[in-house]
Amino acid sequence: MQSNSALFPRNFRKEYPIAGRGEGCWIIDQNGRRFLDASGQAAVVSIGHGVAEIGRAMAEQCSRIAFAHTTQFHSEPAEKLAQRLLALAPQNFRSRGRVYFTSGGSEATETAIKLARQFHLESNQPARYRVVSRRQSYHGSTLGAMTVSGNVARRAPYQPLLAEWGHVAPCFCHHCPFDKKFPDCAIACASDLDDFLNTNDAASVAAFIFEPVVGATLGAAVPPDGYVQRIAEICRKHSILLIADEIMSGMGRTGKPFAIQHWNVEPDIILVGKGIASGYAPLGAVLASPRVVETFERGSGAFQHGFTYQAHPVTTAAANAVLDYIEMRKLFQCVQPAAENLRAELSALSTHPHVGEVRGLGLLLAIEFVKDKSTREPFPKEQNIAERIRQAALDQNVLIYPTQGCVDGINGDHILLAPPFIISDSESALIARALHLALQKVFLT
Ligand SMILES: Cc1ncc(COP(=O)(O)O)c(C=O)c1O
Repeated sequence: MQSNSALFPRNFRKEYPIAGRGEGCWIIDQNGRRFLDASGQAAVVSIGHGVAEIGRAMAEQCSRIAFAHTTQFHSEPAEKLAQRLLALAPQNFRSRGRVYFTSGGSEATETAIKLARQFHLESNQPARYRVVSRRQSYHGSTLGAMTVSGNVARRAPYQPLLAEWGHVAPCFCHHCPFDKKFPDCAIACASDLDDFLNTNDAASVAAFIFEPVVGATLGAAVPPDGYVQRIAEICRKHSILLIADEIMSGMGRTGKPFAIQHWNVEPDIILVGKGIASGYAPLGAVLASPRVVETFERGSGAFQHGFTYQAHPVTTAAANAVLDYIEMRKLFQCVQPAAENLRAELSALSTHPHVGEVRGLGLLLAIEFVKDKSTREPFPKEQNIAERIRQAALDQNVLIYPTQGCVDGINGDHILLAPPFIISDSESALIARALHLALQKVFLT
């Protein structure tokens, strides 16, 4: 324990090395120890660590103007970035969509909740305020974002502070909440939203929020074809907004700019964070489709919301420089081949008796560990498998993102792999080798 630290840590029982430098997929600590960042920290770092031109772009913007309050000014980098994000978004955003920048993912979720509420006020539907979401999901750590999150462990301590707007079934074929199999299931998990709305005062619902690919909570759970399309239809039928939380899955991580583009669905609102500035600056964004924008324009004309640091010139300059870097090196197009290579390296692990599934889309991948492969029974929570695998991989100098609870909110162990898009074949081989040794150590195989 770093008893001389003045930082309030995530965990007082853990030791934290000091990150000194970053180089591509590597983080080097103060003592010179090199760690291979197989999870992009938390699916944040897309272009790699230590790209000097991002810092130069930020310094350049700082030296011109670092801050101008959004009640009085807009800034060039924020305007430019908004245009670029809309051009990457699904078709319905491209003409007359707008972007609201925040300082991170949770603020983006908060903004979307309030945007949905005020959208319905502006549409003369004042009864609509609830934002329905799914069990086994995560949308952020602030109270509004926690309210719509369905992550049991992260929500538990704050339960008394949270509103109950309703959660529907997750879409998770590996542990189907209805014990069904695709396609015979007829996507019962999507129908669960319709059933919920039909029996739970749909007239008071403002929006439905979901992660197109569930990141941390379920471990890169990809819906079967038809799910996202059906969810969009149900939202339309009940006149509620569809919010796609792409804070983890967006900005190229799944091989397309936004994961929802894999299913050709046009949501009303998209949330972005993490990869938008690849960790070089704290930034999030809410993309509002013209349907939402025009309702505000025709209505009161003002969104009753705001943060001092929204649309910050320096953070948006960082994101523009990141996008320049991505475009110059065609990094979105690198995701699919890099993912195929990493999956090929990981394929030997699939036969391990305690690997339940290797899953994901693009470079948002997860490995789930099970006690019994045939029944998919998880290990007891107390065995702390995911954390022990993390520690064993760390012993091999490889950084991964462990989580528990994927099966039922409490039990179930998985690790997330979300390396920078520049991951090389030899680095993927190193990740696979470290995981192989980690599994040997934890499972004594
Ligand atoms: C899907 C999703 N939404 C929201 C958030 C919250 O973002 P932040 O931690 O930047 O507030 C996260 C963070 O992990 C996330 O994965």
